[in-house]
Amino acid sequence: MGDSQVLVASNRGPVSFALADDGTLSMRRGGGGLVSALAGLGGDILWVCAALSDADRAAARRVEDGRLDAYGAGAVRMLDIPAGTFHRAYNAVANSTLWFVHHMLYDSPNTPHFDARSRRDWQSYEAYNAAFADALARDARPGAKVAIQDYHLTLAPGMLRERRPDLKIVHFAHTPWAPPEYYRLLPDDIGREVLEGILGADHAGFHAQRWADAFIDCCAAVLQAKVDPVARTVTHAGRVTRIGVHGLGIDGDSLRARAAEPDVQARKKALREQVGDRRLIVRIDRTELSKNIVRGLAAYRELLAKHPEWHGRVVHLAFAYPSRHDLPEYREYTAAVQRIAAEISDEFGDGTWEPLILQVNDDYPRSLAAYGLADVLLVNPIRDGMNLVAKEGPVLSERGCALVLSREAGAAAEMDDDALMINPFDVSQTAEALNQALLMPPDERAERCARLTAAATTLPPQEWFGAQLAALDGQL
Ligand code: G6P
Repeated sequence: MGDSQVLVASNRGPVSFALADDGTLSMRRGGGGLVSALAGLGGDILWVCAALSDADRAAARRVEDGRLDAYGAGAVRMLDIPAGTFHRAYNAVANSTLWFVHHMLYDSPNTPHFDARSRRDWQSYEAYNAAFADALARDARPGAKVAIQDYHLTLAPGMLRERRPDLKIVHFAHTPWAPPEYYRLLPDDIGREVLEGILGADHAGFHAQRWADAFIDCCAAVLQAKVDPVARTVTHAGRVTRIGVHGLGIDGDSLRARAAEPDVQARKKALREQVGDRRLIVRIDRTELSKNIVRGLAAYRELLAKHPEWHGRVVHLAFAYPSRHDLPEYREYTAAVQRIAAEISDEFGDGTWEPLILQVNDDYPRSLAAYGLADVLLVNPIRDGMNLVAKEGPVLSERGCALVLSREAGAAAEMDDDALMINPFDVSQTAEALNQALLMPPDERAERCARLTAAATTLPPQEWFGAQLAALDGQL
């Protein structure tokens, strides 16, 4: 038994490493909601994460027990999981199977296709989850609280419960949850294992009521568990798991402070010079299948085709940052995004006006600069657990931006009164919503944006995390 009172477990940790040719390691700190939630809490929190690359593995091996404290990373244990096991767990199971199921991304005449190889992948996922359960069991003080994150770690709560029945465990799913009819694409035993793994936790959290309800429905349909959707409890194998909805929001003050820094201001100036006084439609995403970037660009093309009055007067800034390039689907998707972007530029660009600027290299300060300048923010995912772009944009927008938002994003539940809501599959409707957004009078835009900002900052990361720990004490 260890001496940590609060532990967090996630696949991606707060830092990553790069290895130079001469063998020197350099450390980089990541961003994101979880990092800021924990940074604000201070105290005795241990973060357990996986080594994601060869450089991470080298860094984890150079220190005792993977404790990155030695590098100045804070209390972090990075697990040196063998590369093959990690890749099968992360790429084949987490990102190609569980992610696809919850975001409903399969092309069902062809995929999924579960065969003998999938079994080996699944065993790696089990081993990867067991490595986390072992580390958490070893480091937790008696009665400690453990917060396990996301679809990479669905089995870890149950495995940890077996090893350490004294612990208080919360699992949080950052993705949507699939309805039972779609969830049943998973092989039966795997579908059961995932649900039972999460039910090893005392509390299972989701970003939106919709995803919590779908999880409860899956427990009833697949496990025949006793569920109470009103009290939000699932009783299975003699244990009760409470289900909670905690919609992660933004820390407005710290985001605004970051956006006020000189690197962001310099990029804002450069962007303004590039686009002049034209209206700006902005989108910012990882190049991710669920983000629906290709249909978003098709909608912009339709806007320009149907409304020639915007020619020369609007620019679409589309930031599509690299993601999960080990998967062929993601590489193909990136190419599809680039293809349609080139078509739009060829079709409408006239030498004096560049209708579309697509950027594929990750640049966080440039993203913050674009939020500041946006007249319209387009967030049109096929499905999304929450979507923090929809929340960051209104917070940073200088003149108040109009938000065009997919009804399939978790954020829709909190923002649908003031966003222009769309069906993400309806390209024509999206094009018309973009037109409406461009035409929205400045006063109305500013008023809506102020209310969107209030919604976006309701549950900032620290409170979001605190609410889950409080739930473990039965306070919620
Ligand atoms: C989603 C997931 C996170 C994940 C992030 C980036 O938001 O819910 O768990 O960390 O995508 O994906 P990556 O595979 O690069 O960690």
